[in-house]
Order: sequence, then structure tokens, then C-alpha cells
Amino acid sequence: MRVVKVPLGDRGYPIFLGSGLLSRLGTHCRRLGLGTRCAVITDRNVARHYGQATGRSLALAGFDPALVTVPAGETAKNLRTVEKCYDRLAAHRLERRSFVVALGGGVVGDLAGFVAATYLRGVGFVQVPTTLLAQVDSSVGGKVGVNLAAGKNLVGAFYQPRLVLADLDTLRTLPDRELRAGTAEIIKYGVIYDAALFRRLERDLLKLLRRDPGVLAAVVARCCEIKADVVGRDETESGLRAILNFGHTIGHALEAISRYGRFLHGEAIAIGQVAAARLSAQLTGLPEPDVERVRTLFHRAGLPTEIRLNARQRHRLSAAMRLDKKVQGGEVRFVLAERVGRVVTGRAVPETLIDQVLTGR
Ligand code: NAD
Ligand code: GLY
Repeated sequence: MRVVKVPLGDRGYPIFLGSGLLSRLGTHCRRLGLGTRCAVITDRNVARHYGQATGRSLALAGFDPALVTVPAGETAKNLRTVEKCYDRLAAHRLERRSFVVALGGGVVGDLAGFVAATYLRGVGFVQVPTTLLAQVDSSVGGKVGVNLAAGKNLVGAFYQPRLVLADLDTLRTLPDRELRAGTAEIIKYGVIYDAALFRRLERDLLKLLRRDPGVLAAVVARCCEIKADVVGRDETESGLRAILNFGHTIGHALEAISRYGRFLHGEAIAIGQVAAARLSAQLTGLPEPDVERVRTLFHRAGLPTEIRLNARQRHRLSAAMRLDKKVQGGEVRFVLAERVGRVVTGRAVPETLIDQVLTGR
């Protein structure tokens, strides 16, 4: 087992990473000194695979868990689902010292975290991520929230978990398309922060996609270290943390205009990152060969790198980008790369360039 610490003072917490960890969830929770009653919020797919084992581990440690199951997928990440969860928490009589366990991918993590942040003005929160994307990114750092029809993650909070337990064994049942989507956030860390990680991915991508345990463990741990470092230095995104949004302005807008049903998050941000790399070549000096390295890596991961939009879709995309949380004074701001491993934030981009880079023309 590896342990990565998220350094946030008295709100700091450990990320436990390794094989066979799910059965030890109850023991780890016990050490937090929380109340007995708790709720495991999960989705239907994950409940089928890991609901029982999670409940058993908590019960054996003396907890009284309720299993709250929501529909799977991005379309369930909304306020209606939040309200249903509140009702279940009330029925199980959760108290201030109770806690919520998010068992699943980023959708469940963001949703359950928002429920935990707001129910009784905040109960304890534990992340048990079961997708590659959630293990390398969404379970760490405390961004929780839900979508509105108008835009992604427009309602939310910063609310840190008390611990993150990432059992790499759970990735064995993850569908291939979801595993590929998770690599989009991993490639992102290479582009924004760690050129050596990017080179490693160029070398070991196939092993990662084949779920080689050694490569998975090392790569997931490195991503968690990077995220922990960034969040530790800028918890609420007043500066540095914005680098994590590379490719997300376009990606989030694509998800919103397709009503969260066409692209997985990882797929949408793959298109967004390739577009951001092309913008970077024009605006921040990213060398053309590096743009091609970025595009090739996403392509090899089986992720989309371009999209053609008609005039109506382009109009809707730019309206959705204006609702992005990174907008300042009505102007959309981008994270752009200067080279692989180094980015700058807050760059204004002329709108005419955006369509051009989305289609690769
Ligand atoms: P997801 O939560 O929808 O999970 C993907 C699919 O895999 C679902 O159908 C789920 O049921 C299934 N699944 C999950 N674990 C499984 C397993 N071990 N075996 C079999 N099936 C499994 O999607 P995701 O890609 O994990 O997360 C995407 C979400 O994360 C988006 O909403 C995105 O906005 C959010 N996100 C949040 C942050 C953050 O910092 N909070 C960061 C990145 C992404
Ligand atoms: N995934 C963006 C962030 O955590 O800030």
C-alpha cells in the first residue's frame, strides 16, 4: 500500500492506494472517530460489484451503513438526485457525526460530496474511487458539486474528504471505454506539470491500457502526488489550481451542449486538451512537434481529438463557455501550454481561433 498525503493542515488527509484495500475501509474509518451511522452513496453498476463488500467492511468495524444507489452516469449528477439522497439520509437518521462514503467514479464522488457538504450543514465524507479518473483526480482535492442544464458543475462547494481509499483491484471490472476516458486526466498531468510523466506515458501507454498492475500503481500514485501538491498550495483555486483545468473550458462546454449524454467527461476533455494545445502553439509558443505529441498520445489512448460543429452548435458552445467558472468580466480564460510540463493560466483567446482548432484545420 502507498500513502500520499494531501497537505491541508488540520483538514489534511491521506490517500491510501493499493490492492485489496476495500476490505479495510471500515478499519480506516474507525480511526477517524466518526459516529456509527453512515451512508454509502453509489451507482447501480458499482453497487452490483462492490456494494456488499463495502457494507460488510463498514459493518464489521461497527458501523451501521445504509446503501443509497443512484442511476449511473453524468445525467444523474443533478439537484434532483441530490434531493433523493437527502431523503435517504434522513430516513436512516444520519446525525452531525455521521458520514457519507462515495463509492464509485467521479459522478458519485462529486454528487455524494455535495450531499455530505450540505446535509446538516456538513457531515463527514470519505472517498472510495473506483474509476481510473476518480482515482487519479476527482476523489482528491475537495471539489464537489452537480450540473445544471446550463452548465457543468455550476453548483458546488470545496469540501475535503477525511480520507481517500483507492483500491486498484476495483479497476479490473471497469469497462474499457471508461479506462480510456481516465487516461485523459493522466495525460493532463503530464502536459501541465510533469514532462517525465508524459514521456513515461508515451512509453508505457499500452501497459496502462492493459491494466498492468505495476504501471497502474506507479502512474496513479504519481498523479495523486501532483494533485495533492497543487491542492495543498491552492485549495480554492485562487491561482495555481487553475492549471488543473487545462482542456476543461472547451471540454465542459461540449458536455453541456450535448446534454451530458454523448461524451464521457474524459472524452470531452481529450478534445478540449488537443484544442488547447493547438491554441498554445499560436498564443504561447508550444512547439508544433509537442502539439503533435499531445494529439498522438490521446489518439493512441483511443480518445477523440477533434470535432466538427455546425453553426448552431458553435453558437451553443460559445454560450456554454461563457458560463464557465473561469470567465472573468465576460471573457473566457484558458490554460495554455508553453511546453510539455509547463502551462500558464488566465489567457484570453479570440473566439475565431476556437472553431479552427477544434476541427484541426
Ligand atoms: P462515472 O462516475 O460516471 O463512472 C463511469 C462509469 O463506470 C459509470 O457507469 C459507473 O457506474 C462505472 N463504474 C465505476 N466504477 C466501476 C468499476 N470499478 N467497475 C465497473 N464499472 C464501474 O465517471 P468518471 O469518469 O469516474 O467521473 C466523471 C465525473 O468526474 C464528471 O462528472 C467530472 O465532472 C467529474 N470530475 C470531477 C473532478 C473533481 O475534482 N471533483 C475532477 C475530474 C472530473
Ligand atoms: N479537476 C480540477 C480540480 O480539481 O481543480
